[in-house]
Amino acid sequence: SQRIKIKALLTGELTGKEVTVKGWVRAFRQNRFIALNDGSTNNNIQIVVDFENTDPALLKRITFGSAISVVGEMVPSLGSGQKVEVNAKTIEILGDCNPEEFPLQPKKQSLEFLRENAHLRFRTSTFGSIFRLRNTLAFAVHKFFNDRGFVYLHTPIITASDAEGAGEMFRVTTFDPTKPPLTDTGEVDFKQDFFGKATNLTVSGQLEGELGAMALSDIYTFGPTFRAENSNTTRHLAEFWMIEPEMAFYDLNDNMDLAEEMLKYLIGYALEHNREDIEFLTQRLLEEEKQKPQAERSEMTLLEKLQFCLDNDFQRLTYTEAIEILKDSNHNKKKKFQYLIEGWGADLQSEHERYLVEKHFKKPVILTDYPKDIKSFYMRLNEDGKTVRAMDILFPGIGEIIGGSQREERYDKLTQRMDEMGVPKDELWWYLDTRRFGACEHAGFGLGFERLVLFVTGMGNIRDVIPFPRAPKTAEF
Ligand code: 4AD
Ligand code: MG
Repeated sequence: SQRIKIKALLTGELTGKEVTVKGWVRAFRQNRFIALNDGSTNNNIQIVVDFENTDPALLKRITFGSAISVVGEMVPSLGSGQKVEVNAKTIEILGDCNPEEFPLQPKKQSLEFLRENAHLRFRTSTFGSIFRLRNTLAFAVHKFFNDRGFVYLHTPIITASDAEGAGEMFRVTTFDPTKPPLTDTGEVDFKQDFFGKATNLTVSGQLEGELGAMALSDIYTFGPTFRAENSNTTRHLAEFWMIEPEMAFYDLNDNMDLAEEMLKYLIGYALEHNREDIEFLTQRLLEEEKQKPQAERSEMTLLEKLQFCLDNDFQRLTYTEAIEILKDSNHNKKKKFQYLIEGWGADLQSEHERYLVEKHFKKPVILTDYPKDIKSFYMRLNEDGKTVRAMDILFPGIGEIIGGSQREERYDKLTQRMDEMGVPKDELWWYLDTRRFGACEHAGFGLGFERLVLFVTGMGNIRDVIPFPRAPKTAEF
């Protein structure tokens, strides 16, 4: 008979038929009931073993983690846990799993332990749900943009430019085992760079994306980006995936509208297509919350939070208005912030962002029109000469999830800003050409994909929502 995945078997449509099912053993009780999982869903299928007529040597090899193949009949289940089960006719061991050596245990294991055993954590229900959701969200990103006529543009991973001007780049070199990467005098040997040119891993595809938008109108990128920030936070990775749409003839309001519509679409898509996984993670979170004192528990469950996000308009306000709120807050007056808000012009710390979102407005917030000095060179200068057409979207429990802006399309203003900020014009000549030949109003933003996955899964650490996290001390494989 044909191999059927467990998700399909559990619908019960094949009741009465003979099926083949393959997977990994999650539990084996009373020499009789196997809980089998193949990753298609978190729900296991129950295999009923006729142990009296099965070789005891084979029964012994059915252990937690072993891979098996079962041929049997789909029947209605008498047990309460499931609708259907498989009455095994034959069981074949595909791969043994010695319980003495297998690092995972058939019990709830801490996330720290699973991070240390990252090569095996896919085998757990929690990570099964996370990575199925991550897949669904990635698919939904492409669907959202393609349904709206955006062109998926592949921007380079190896690039000579620093799109954000923040200097947080990993340098690319050609490895030559016969030569040290330094010259005799201890300087960096440029000959070992990218065919003689200094290059780095991209921090953002935006500048290249703008080239595409200036002809195709609406484009988006979706690829890995790299930041050499040596930060050990639960929100930062050295390698993360970013989605960067760029739209010609858009101003900041159009940009905000698109970003809000996109976030709601992606969350709604996950709720519709992976409800089981979200329900599982909601339950997991509730158990975790039970360990905390009442006051620290969140008011909403994960499911409620996601639904709330869909049902409410995001709060839009300017940086200047936000500063007034923060300055006047009791939190600031009672010196509860680690970084006190003294006045206009300072960058917001994540504690300030989270105060606005979680304590003040209690919903997602879009902050606009930041001081030009704390934002990148490419953002459009406002009439006041002090602020730029920037927007950051802040989410509960996450902080900044999106950063974007209307771009400075005026050649003179852009080059002036580059000079002021020390951004090399000669290296970005190709970017400046977009402002010389048919420049137009345009805007775009970047969504940190892992921050979205964090929000939708309710997880607390960004290293748990990417299959192979790259951060200080995590590049084991
Ligand atoms: O705010 P950022 O740095 O903006 C840009 O890179 C622009 N070029 C985007 C654009 O306008 N096209 O990064 C955008 C988003 C952040 O809001 C955050 O969600 C995520 O990328 N991000 C990170 N995610 C994980 N680890 C890091 N180290 C991140 N740095 C930024
Ligand atoms: Mg930002």
